[in-house]
Amino acid sequence: MDSSLQYLLLLLFCFTLHITSCVPHRPNVVPNAIVLPVTKDASTLQYLAQIKMGTPQIPIKLVIDLGGPFLWVDCASKHVSSSHKPIHSGSLHCSMAKANKKCAMHPRNRITQLATTGELAEEILAVDYVDRTEMGSIATVHSFLFSCAPVLLLKGLASGAKGMLGLGRTRLALPSQLASTLDFQRRFAICLSSFDGIIVSGESPFITGTDISKSLVYTPLISNLDGTFEEYYINLRSIKINGKRLSLNKSLLSLDRYGVGGTKISTIVPYTTMESTIYDTFTKAYVKAANSMNMTRVGPVAPFRFCFSSKGVSETRVGRTVPEIDLMLQSEMVKWRIYGRNSMVKVSDEVMCLGFLDGGLGSKTSIVIGGYQLEDNLVEFNLGTSMLGFSSSLLMKGTSCSKFRLNYMPSEAL
Ligand SMILES: *[C@@H]1O[C@H](CO)[C@@H](O)[C@H](O)[C@H]1NC(C)=O
Ligand SMILES: *[C@@H]1O[C@H](CO)[C@@H](O)[C@H](O)[C@H]1NC(C)=O
Repeated sequence: MDSSLQYLLLLLFCFTLHITSCVPHRPNVVPNAIVLPVTKDASTLQYLAQIKMGTPQIPIKLVIDLGGPFLWVDCASKHVSSSHKPIHSGSLHCSMAKANKKCAMHPRNRITQLATTGELAEEILAVDYVDRTEMGSIATVHSFLFSCAPVLLLKGLASGAKGMLGLGRTRLALPSQLASTLDFQRRFAICLSSFDGIIVSGESPFITGTDISKSLVYTPLISNLDGTFEEYYINLRSIKINGKRLSLNKSLLSLDRYGVGGTKISTIVPYTTMESTIYDTFTKAYVKAANSMNMTRVGPVAPFRFCFSSKGVSETRVGRTVPEIDLMLQSEMVKWRIYGRNSMVKVSDEVMCLGFLDGGLGSKTSIVIGGYQLEDNLVEFNLGTSMLGFSSSLLMKGTSCSKFRLNYMPSEAL
């Protein structure tokens, strides 16, 4: 037999059976997707992912920052690792990171807004991956670029977190580095949960080709001409409450070329915020709709201003029967529906509050869709096509982000 054909057959055999001993024949085993388990910190409401870094590989907890430009970690509290290498100025990596002459980075804690300078470095990163046969394994990235940061930048992060994991639209953010080193598409999906969520990066066998993926609705991610938007903006054109359109200031809803206005998605904001004038219109309409459903308003419970008695309000699989909120996107056909599970926060057995907050008068971004509204929604970010796919509540389809995580990481259930 022709030796190249023999090799091809061997490859095919290895692909079909995924025998680990085949690996030496094909050193660059290409994973299809990597998965990161996600938890929620109850006191800060931040979402945390765990990655393994260094030699030896030690797990490190990081706060997930969807719009963050890169990964930063407190290197002093990171263990001593033989694979940690500082990046020198003038190197290719340094220019790729768009760092300054000395190759210094500017890591920022985007929760407290504190920023410092830090050293660009590379390190071995290890993450779980799944392939077509759904078997779990480990994918290793040998020179993953990140920034070191001083310990003071950790202030305001969940206890145990050693830095932030940026997933933004930059070459240095995790999805792009994984895509280029592991040779898969620049796309990832987040499925946040109040308990066990998941991030999947690459082409996922569960998301691609499932009923859930077929039901995803797509909307463009907004870019400016020079592609400098690092965060994920979408074109929200209006909001409906129980089917009634609110009259909102169009110029606030549009994103200008300096990045002012518009609507973005964020995992570091626990509840959706709206610029004050939008918030005012939104909450007035919401209270009116709630009244017409005979909901009883009760006193505020910080940080929430609009609270209701939950007595007599029926419960469905998508939460309490409360006014439905539709985020209307590029056309009337494209809407992100928010049910009780994602709009109402249970503060006690009798009281529930509207989980949307006032973002302040003239806030830079008019609407920031936050964590609580994202939970149990599958949201896929495709950086190649600049499209965002969303499921609206998975609970409506009888599934959840915790169930997704079990599908990916069945070993965790043992
Ligand atoms: C809409 O918002 C813009 C920007 O804040 C403001 O200048 C304008 O006066 C607002 N328009 C209305 C009708 O309120
Ligand atoms: C609200 O209460 C009024 C008076 O009790 C009743 O007529 C109406 O049907 C109720 N509406 C809803 C939506 O339950």
